[in-house]
Amino acid sequence: MSHTQYDVIVVGSGMSALLTANYLSKHMNVMVFTKSGKHENNSFLAQGGVAGAIAKTDSWNQHYMDTLIAGCDHNNKYSVQLLTKQGPAMLQEIIDNGMKFDEDPSGNLSLGMEGAHSMRRILHAGGDQTGKKIMKWLHSQLKESVTILEHETVVNLLVDSERCYGVKTLNTLGQRRTYRATHVVFATGGAGGLYSYTSNNNSVTGMALALAYRVGATLTDLEFMQFHPTMLRVGDKAVGLISEAVRGEGAYLMNNEGKSIMSGVHPLNDLAPRDIVSRVIFNELDQGREVFLNIEHVRNFEARFPTITQMCSSHGINLANKLLPVVPGAHFFMGGIETNENGETSIEGLYAVGEVACNGVHGANRLASNSLLEAIVFSKKLAEHLLNKESTIQWMPTDYREKLSSLKRETIILPAKEELQKKMMKYAGIVRNKNGLLKLISWLKTYQTYWESLDEIESSLPLEKIELIYMLQVSYLIASSALNREESRGAHFRLDFPYLNENWKQKRIMHQKKQNISCKSVLTNALFVADAKCKGEKTVEYI
Ligand code: SIN
Repeated sequence: MSHTQYDVIVVGSGMSALLTANYLSKHMNVMVFTKSGKHENNSFLAQGGVAGAIAKTDSWNQHYMDTLIAGCDHNNKYSVQLLTKQGPAMLQEIIDNGMKFDEDPSGNLSLGMEGAHSMRRILHAGGDQTGKKIMKWLHSQLKESVTILEHETVVNLLVDSERCYGVKTLNTLGQRRTYRATHVVFATGGAGGLYSYTSNNNSVTGMALALAYRVGATLTDLEFMQFHPTMLRVGDKAVGLISEAVRGEGAYLMNNEGKSIMSGVHPLNDLAPRDIVSRVIFNELDQGREVFLNIEHVRNFEARFPTITQMCSSHGINLANKLLPVVPGAHFFMGGIETNENGETSIEGLYAVGEVACNGVHGANRLASNSLLEAIVFSKKLAEHLLNKESTIQWMPTDYREKLSSLKRETIILPAKEELQKKMMKYAGIVRNKNGLLKLISWLKTYQTYWESLDEIESSLPLEKIELIYMLQVSYLIASSALNREESRGAHFRLDFPYLNENWKQKRIMHQKKQNISCKSVLTNALFVADAKCKGEKTVEYI
């Protein structure tokens, strides 16, 4: 079997993936794989912008405090400090390299306001086209040495007892290949595609979480999925994001009885943290009322929000009525593959950065527009770390061999993806409770044989089935974490445990597959470990 050997394989096509690849490509041989086209990612869809304490009246410390408050004190404070302290200089570096953010008439950066920020600090570009503009700039900066292989999905990791040493892929022509690398970096985004209402690109289904978990990497904070309060609702579908910046410019939420539903609920009213706003909308919808974003007070809506204007017009929503129908949708996953600030996971040779990673920076609830800043700060840290590391593998891994299974391809009967998404929305969505989570877990467990034998059956399955099996496995892990955390904190709300519980403060629920090993946790405040029986660690049993 012949193998191509790279220094680094980066999986993903968003901002974290391309920034990492670009930094590394000066000195290393880098290959980028993406399961879809190179523009199909969440970064491209980002509307609001990039948060950064750059105003004269602002300080990194204020941004730090806002991030901790939104994150309900579940954050890793060191990561937050890196983000907020180093962010402004790194943003400046990007501006110096030609990225143009919107300016006010006097030529100063125009700063937007979003939920739970104590002041205006959101840089945006092309109004609400920030992600698109940044990605366009980033593609223009890409070194020739960065090759992006599109429509080739990583379906497995190559690991031996020592470390991760490459990936196995499947492309849209059904060709299966293996590629070796000294370092494999996951920068694949979150898991919004597990839910029926989401702002995420369709391709973002959390597959990398399953891949990492299966080879023994630690996953953490999976109970924390942030729902964005305002997705444009058309019929029973959520068709796209309506940026929080719209509320930042004066829009407010009301129900079909004309009541302004956020006033008096929280001191920040419509700009309260996202989990609070999403739950208020959820309750309105649950009681049979409709919810609208009233934009009557937003000046120059079409010019400031061209993407949303275009989305409304393509779905026949008349902006002149000033009312946009909304529903919350899965938006950002705070949990992920556990990493330290350098993107190292608990598996040698495997790294994660951006939304797929969890270095604790967002806590239980991400502060708006902190994720593009996260990509900027932590991609650079990861790249610097790899550039300072020994760059070649010192041993020869054994050839990857297919394992055989007695499970026959035709006996594999999977649910429709939409059924999984509906159940996740209903039982592991904005409001959760024990009974619902148990129902969901017991349904998911009926597919356990498939994910347990996936390494053996994968080579005989088409991509959609492989992906769906990974989605079922990740959903199971999410539901298990949500069941275990018997309190409400940030984006995780349990109707049967509706309050924050001090006993859960700074405690993380982690999943690690390997049994009886000395669990390596890269975050210092990790206290709880599910599924693995780890020496010296408290083990949480969950059904
Ligand atoms: C938004 O524009 O509302 C999304 C920004 C974010 O999620 O950071």
